[in-house]
Amino acid sequence: MFAIRLTDVPDDTSTRVVPVGPGLDAEASALAAATEGADVAGRVTVFPRPLRQPSRVLLAGVGAGDEAGWRAAGAAAIREVADDEVLEVHLPGAIAAELVRGLAEGLWLGGYRYRDAPRGPRTGEVRIFTDESDAYAESLAQAQITARAAWLARDLTNTPSSVKNPEWFAAQVVAEAQNRPGLTVTVRAGDELERFGGLRAVGAGSVSPPRFVELSWQPPGATTHVVLVGKGITFDTGGISIKPRDGMKLMKKDMGGAAAVIAAVLGAADLGLGLRLTALAPLAENAVSGSAFRPGDVITHYDGSTSENTNSDAEGRIVLADALGYAADVLHPDLVLNLATLTGANAVALGKRTAALFSPWDDLAAALTEAGTATGERMWRLPLSDDYLDNLRSDIADRISAPAGPGAVMAALFLRDFFGDARWAHLDMSAPSWSETHELELTKGATGWGARMLLRYLSTLDSGQQAGA
Ligand code: BES
Ligand code: MN
Ligand code: ZN
Repeated sequence: MFAIRLTDVPDDTSTRVVPVGPGLDAEASALAAATEGADVAGRVTVFPRPLRQPSRVLLAGVGAGDEAGWRAAGAAAIREVADDEVLEVHLPGAIAAELVRGLAEGLWLGGYRYRDAPRGPRTGEVRIFTDESDAYAESLAQAQITARAAWLARDLTNTPSSVKNPEWFAAQVVAEAQNRPGLTVTVRAGDELERFGGLRAVGAGSVSPPRFVELSWQPPGATTHVVLVGKGITFDTGGISIKPRDGMKLMKKDMGGAAAVIAAVLGAADLGLGLRLTALAPLAENAVSGSAFRPGDVITHYDGSTSENTNSDAEGRIVLADALGYAADVLHPDLVLNLATLTGANAVALGKRTAALFSPWDDLAAALTEAGTATGERMWRLPLSDDYLDNLRSDIADRISAPAGPGAVMAALFLRDFFGDARWAHLDMSAPSWSETHELELTKGATGWGARMLLRYLSTLDSGQQAGA
């Protein structure tokens, strides 16, 4: 990760970034006045050495001047500069600490590059020029932890599936956890997956066998236990119910849910949150082969219930059912959050940037939505429509896996059976897990969707609890 430092010594040789927006344009007023629209969030206007200044000046629009606007400004500014360039952002006096956090997050997120990209990492650094360094140190540290979590989720998701098999993914989690005290990882494989009938079925067609990863953070004194479950299909061909070629192109991203929940628990440990957290990642490759599971097969899940496979491309819910059953049976959590690139219907209903949220609890749905809005990882609530329950009926099992009906809703109804007694929410993040373009704080490719939203939600839950205690 490139460095961002707070400084009160100006550097006259680096490129200077001047945020412009409501009430901020003192330093840049002459330039901004000459440039209509310079304050639009995420817009950068470049002046090569204006007004005989020693350095290049970038006006970076912060829009409404909220956290999202500052994040957009940071991301746009970093995209404007060369890899080895030093950038100095001039803050206009004292601003709210959350805006500095937004700025720094935007700089890191917009400056993200896949860790194995041929260009290599950025070598330049960013200096935030301010008299208030002490006031912003904590915001900067939080931004770094959050951005690092998003970088990890993006890196895991951008990794080609030829590299990223279940064993590799599990090894990444072990390596990340080793660097951080207080975390434990369990990886189950082979015979240890006996009760995970869904995970074994979906993984049966691949030469790379499945894994079940459990990452836990248990700080002393924590009472509330939140389990985060993430779909970890390392590649989704659709299996015997094979996908058409265009539908398969991006299916290396089908472990984005697993990447987000793992990154969130690592980030929560870095933040030192006082919650007990467990991330569960059922990892499998949904491949086509003579050993693949078939339409018509009946699968016995962790909780002992059965599903008739009616379309092997509905593999996500089958592996998640086992993970959710395990959570309910073994972990007895207070809350379960499930993240999955589950259905193409997510994008049909809500477009490219918005996840579908399902939860029976209004307060939980509202809190998650708020965390999503604040971090720019948006979601929209869809109904758990009981009027479609009949479609799930099977003659030979407790349910079928791929019923007719509205796709994202049907998948949520399928999963609902497995959450047990805990409060829960399910997020179908198929659409926002990937970006076709550099846009605001997103870079082209994996977005890491969910990691930042989860960290924000969990931080809020943690501070609410401390206030209540
Ligand atoms: N991984 C896909 C969903 C997906 C599609 C994610 C597009 C990201 C972009 C999932 O496993 C899938 O294939 N879902 C099917 C379900 C159907 C067979 C019931 C779908 O949405 O078509
Ligand atoms: Mn599928
Ligand atoms: Zn899938």
